[in-house]
Amino acid sequence: MSTIAHLSDVHFGRHDPEIVAAVETFLFEAKPDLVVISGDFTQRARVEQYRLASEWLERLESGGLVTLAVPGNHDVPLYDILRRFARPLHRYRRFIDDDLCPFVESDDVAVLGINTARSLTIKDGSVSREQIDLIRDRFRDVEQGKTRILVTHHPLFAMPIGEEGALSKVVKRDADALQAVADAGVDILLAGHFHRTYAQSAREMVKTAGAALVIQAGTATSTRLRGDELQSFNMIELSPGRVQLQVQRWDGAGLVGGRPTIFAHDGDNWLFEGRREDEGTPAPVVAARADAIAEG
Ligand SMILES: [Fe+2]
Ligand SMILES: [Fe+2]
Repeated sequence: MSTIAHLSDVHFGRHDPEIVAAVETFLFEAKPDLVVISGDFTQRARVEQYRLASEWLERLESGGLVTLAVPGNHDVPLYDILRRFARPLHRYRRFIDDDLCPFVESDDVAVLGINTARSLTIKDGSVSREQIDLIRDRFRDVEQGKTRILVTHHPLFAMPIGEEGALSKVVKRDADALQAVADAGVDILLAGHFHRTYAQSAREMVKTAGAALVIQAGTATSTRLRGDELQSFNMIELSPGRVQLQVQRWDGAGLVGGRPTIFAHDGDNWLFEGRREDEGTPAPVVAARADAIAEG
């Protein structure tokens, strides 16, 4: 079994230091096998914000945790136009990770991150043709039976945005990217950006993408909240054919674990199996359709 902590949208510069400290303490106690951070490390890609993010990552790693990260749209400078277009992710590469599409593999899981943040759009994402090839290439030789996970900042498909039938913009080349996800046999898609947490089978949301389970993370430590959503992150336990998802939410004084939600794979699809009633507080983790999603 593998345990993955999935954090997103930490937004240093608009972070709450008390929550940052609580998340660190939690992670050191929980000791997940991998900490995934799906982008938006900073609020405005400023040096001092990147420095805080880098120090936080350094503390996690020097505490023995393994991390895998991708950039978000907030990690590209917004107002510094020259830097935005000439060197959009230079600071990310300097302070966070030189590799914008990192890959890690263990006995149980293979995890690929893809950078979807671009200079040409303020907040929308894109997947390049090279990245689409990379999705197929990276997972091609991964042993059958290992859980294949793809991490992006922007979700790869349109999300309902609250109004009746309205959907958010999709990433550029979404259809090709989702076909690659299906071809590569990706089991789980992890993303953030919308500052809302939920999980759903991809088959319920898009025609392609195969049998992936979509798991969105809220904002872990940012004070940029959406609606009544609180700061949160996901703890994901993987075992063959089974995913247990527990959301850890900040309640104003500490982190509170939601009721673990279980998905089981029936050979063709991820099915919501239920929630463990024996622990945690009730948590509206699984939404058939997320409502009132705002931009991240
Ligand atoms: Fe974002
Ligand atoms: Fe964000």
